[in-house]
Amino acid sequence: MEQRTLIHPDRGNNSQASQASIVGLGTWQLGADWGEVSETDALAVLEASVEAGVTFFDTADVYGDGRSEQLIGRFLKDHPGITVATKMGRRVEQTPENYTLDNFRAWNDRSPRNLGVDTLDLVQLHCPPSATIDDDRTYDALDTMVAEGRVAAYGVSVETVAQALSAIARPHVASVQIILNAFRLKPFEEVVPAAAAAGVGIIARVPLASGLLSGKYDRSTRFAENDHRTYNRHGEAFDVGETFSGVDYETGLAAAGEFTDLVRELGPAGATPAQVAIAWLTQQPGVTTVIPGARNVEQARANAAAGTLPPLSEELTAGITRIYDTHLRASIHPRW
Ligand SMILES: NC(=O)c1ccc[n+]([C@@H]2O[C@H](COP(=O)([O-])OP(=O)(O)OC[C@H]3O[C@@H](n4cnc5c(N)ncnc54)[C@H](OP(=O)(O)O)[C@@H]3O)[C@@H](O)[C@H]2O)c1
Repeated sequence: MEQRTLIHPDRGNNSQASQASIVGLGTWQLGADWGEVSETDALAVLEASVEAGVTFFDTADVYGDGRSEQLIGRFLKDHPGITVATKMGRRVEQTPENYTLDNFRAWNDRSPRNLGVDTLDLVQLHCPPSATIDDDRTYDALDTMVAEGRVAAYGVSVETVAQALSAIARPHVASVQIILNAFRLKPFEEVVPAAAAAGVGIIARVPLASGLLSGKYDRSTRFAENDHRTYNRHGEAFDVGETFSGVDYETGLAAAGEFTDLVRELGPAGATPAQVAIAWLTQQPGVTTVIPGARNVEQARANAAAGTLPPLSEELTAGITRIYDTHLRASIHPRW
């Protein structure tokens, strides 16, 4: 699978891993915070992904309170050469006052142990408040973390376009992670071009709109009680944009139905809607890596294979824009 530079040399300590496969792996599911995934299954997902060419994992200190990182750490012992991005900041109340150098050091102390590394490849602030993203002191503290050898590079995971643009303007931010998918097109207007011009990597998260873009759900689908697709539909626990990409479920089903029809009509033979949703993102200029979450080996293999699909047509892109404009633009565009 194609590899791209995620961490540009002037935005990190380039002795560390800096490449990412165009399809990476999101490992929130492997923390088993939502829905059960056994350790054996989680390790099998990592194995299947790497066998299929994935060289980039995205995790966080809070996924399963460290479980996701620990599983990746076990896996890395026998599989060197993977670039791992983790996150910090979600173990405390979300106030700008908490984003200090002392807290960064403390929050970040577990991750090297969990991952079994001396220096972390990439640490992302985990959707901090806007005031933190706009504050010079945040970046001074992160620069100190790099100087101390704790992290080789840092990035910011964000919710909004404005936050992304603020982070991209900082000289040492290596990457921005943002929700980007066929139901979330706004970052293509300014964020993705600005990142490309600045040499900032774009990590496209929630590429399947939490699975909606696979086309497999309907009105009768029930998610587990502990699945955010049950308990965060209206943003009860965290930003509603993280659940189905912020798309109201009924609207999402209609849009996903049209996306499935579009893929049947214009997608490569044999490719599923989920694969086309991922492949389409990898083929947009300026997107560095796309990180679908996979709950099992079949999903992991299928998602990685999307990284080798042939170029998709302009008609398909036009169809995606049409679906977005018809069903989603009015509710999604002004908000994020
Ligand atoms: N704030 C942040 O920084 C933040 C927030 C959210 C996510 N993330 C990162 O982004 C990653 C991806 O986001 P996500 O997992 O929430 O959303 P996603 O990748 O859009 O959707 C994942 C879901 O899609 C379904 N799926 C995956 N592969 C499939 C396939 N091949 N065919 C059919 N269905 C498939 C599965 O649903 P079922 O479970 O129904 O099978 C899976 O749980 C996370 O793992 C995490 O690393 C970061």
